[in-house]
Amino acid sequence: MLSSRAVNDLFLRTCRGEATERRPVWIMRQAGRYLPEYRAIRQKVDFLTLCKTPELAAEVTIQPVDILGVDAAILFADILLPLEAMGAELQFVKGDGPSFPHPVRTREDVARLRNPEVDETLGYVFAALRLVRRELDGRVPVLGFGGTPWTLAAYLVEGGGSKHFEHLLAWSYGDPEGLALLLDRVAGTSIAYLKGQIAAGAQALQLFDTWGGLLDLERWRAVALPPLRRIVDALKGEVPLIYYVNGGSHLLPALAELPVDVLSVDWRQPLSTVRRIVGPRVLQGNLDPAALLAPIPEIERRTADLLREGSGGPHVVNLGHGILPMVPVENAKAFVEAVKRLSLNP
Ligand code: CP3
Repeated sequence: MLSSRAVNDLFLRTCRGEATERRPVWIMRQAGRYLPEYRAIRQKVDFLTLCKTPELAAEVTIQPVDILGVDAAILFADILLPLEAMGAELQFVKGDGPSFPHPVRTREDVARLRNPEVDETLGYVFAALRLVRRELDGRVPVLGFGGTPWTLAAYLVEGGGSKHFEHLLAWSYGDPEGLALLLDRVAGTSIAYLKGQIAAGAQALQLFDTWGGLLDLERWRAVALPPLRRIVDALKGEVPLIYYVNGGSHLLPALAELPVDVLSVDWRQPLSTVRRIVGPRVLQGNLDPAALLAPIPEIERRTADLLREGSGGPHVVNLGHGILPMVPVENAKAFVEAVKRLSLNP
């Protein structure tokens, strides 16, 4: 048994491309509604209050480490919080997800945004991180995270989630320089925010590009990449940096050149195919999140297939997107345990 002081740094060593005794595993959105212990806390406080109360945010961050035995913790927060710090009113409406009642759609709207002092406006995130580091005491590393400017703008411009992202895409064709001003402002705040997370103890950072796949390769390079590159260049060499894209198989030729430590991909292409395109990179992923709804023997078979697919180089095992709220906890646990059992190197 690991004592409470044992240090598990498998995840960080794999991010750096080192060969390890087995593969690390964690789950995107591992602190969330599929856990009864999370729902119990959410019955008492709303989502934003939970994010802004460091003791509670730290508690739910650690829940999946205790319950599932994952090899990394990810700070409990949300990618949209820095937009609120920039002055955009943010609400989470029960059942409907995030909402910005005053969307940003013009250059005048961009000019009204603030360049926030992150210690003042997002200090609760840093406080939660410091608590998590102290309470975990090295048991597993702690990941910080943010959204990419493109994905953050997707919510801010639409005013929330969207099916077609028509306002965002219309702006990107109609006034690309105006949209670039917004993306650059978001990049500036993101850099200060992510550096603050490192100062507060984040041992790796993941950038979520949930909507990067909306753009074709050429437009992704022209519109989404410049502000992303600004962030990557500002953070390079500090802590391992992971870039996650959903629906971005067609972007792989550009991602091959992105100087991040780890590329995290969705489940729509096998990892062996991804490796053929991006070359010798550390990969993260990519079990279909819906596979955790299967009977446990099927989850174990699919996990074994995933481990075979990922065996061509360093591999952080994860899902291809966030865990679904309907997943039974035993199924998530079976996935984590299967990785630990089946990925041992002789
Ligand atoms: O466990 C973890 O991964 C850490 C916490 C975390 C949350 N959101 C908590 C959350 C992380 C890393 C995120 C990232 C995030 N937030 C993304 C990128 C990842 C992805 O899924 O593509 C995006 C797009 C958001 C924005 C967001 N937050 C949406 C669209 C929603 C509503 C949809 C949903 O999944 O509920 C949220 C709410 C949210 N963020 C919840 C959680 C646990 C559910 C809130 C609740 O308790 O009701």
